[in-house]
Amino acid sequence: MKDRSRFRPPDLELLGSRPSRRRILRHVAQIVGGVSALGLSAGSARAEQVRPTPSQVAGPHYPKEKPGEADWNLLSVGDGAPPAGEPLELHGTVTTRSERPIAGARVEIWQADNQGIYDHPRDPDRTRFDHRFQGYGALDTGADGKYRFLTLMPVPYGGRPPHIHVTIRRVGAEALTTQLYLKDHPENDRDGLFALMLYPGQKKLMIDPRDATLDNGMRGKSARFDFVVF
Ligand SMILES: [Fe+2]
Repeated sequence: MKDRSRFRPPDLELLGSRPSRRRILRHVAQIVGGVSALGLSAGSARAEQVRPTPSQVAGPHYPKEKPGEADWNLLSVGDGAPPAGEPLELHGTVTTRSERPIAGARVEIWQADNQGIYDHPRDPDRTRFDHRFQGYGALDTGADGKYRFLTLMPVPYGGRPPHIHVTIRRVGAEALTTQLYLKDHPENDRDGLFALMLYPGQKKLMIDPRDATLDNGMRGKSARFDFVVF
């Protein structure tokens, strides 16, 4: 018998607005990049290095109102206690396709709390959101293109695998919006978005958190993800 669970249709999270012509062209460029990475065209190693980070839909939970505190540390809200969940350091670099670090790029992340609840009106469980967790954070990359957030290890919710939403904006360029997933998480293959993957570049949207000692001796995980944007 066929395992239909692997072909779960996309949920609301996956529904985006109608893609612009520019966005379609970008996807075509990503598909070409994916083919290059398979060695089907010349210079595959180089193409692998500079292939742009694939975009994914923003989903319905981008904050309607940003929290009063919206910095890089999502584990600290005012002087309050840390939220429930396992701390995660998410860090890396934002570069152009020619591998030039981008200074001053605005990086935003948002995600559900440790119960899988978003601080958003469209989440039916919002009243139970853990307000010790910031839920959203933003920063500008440094002169070296680097960024660093303290957040939580994402958890599955509503049929979706654990993920962190990311948007990167910079002056004079279209924003990159995407989602990061946990490498080898069993829920990944049951996700509608994964079922829609058309090119191998999508698989690059993975983080591989490792045990680490973070700020103030706090134990948690650390993962690096480098974004390549147009
Ligand atoms: Fe989400």
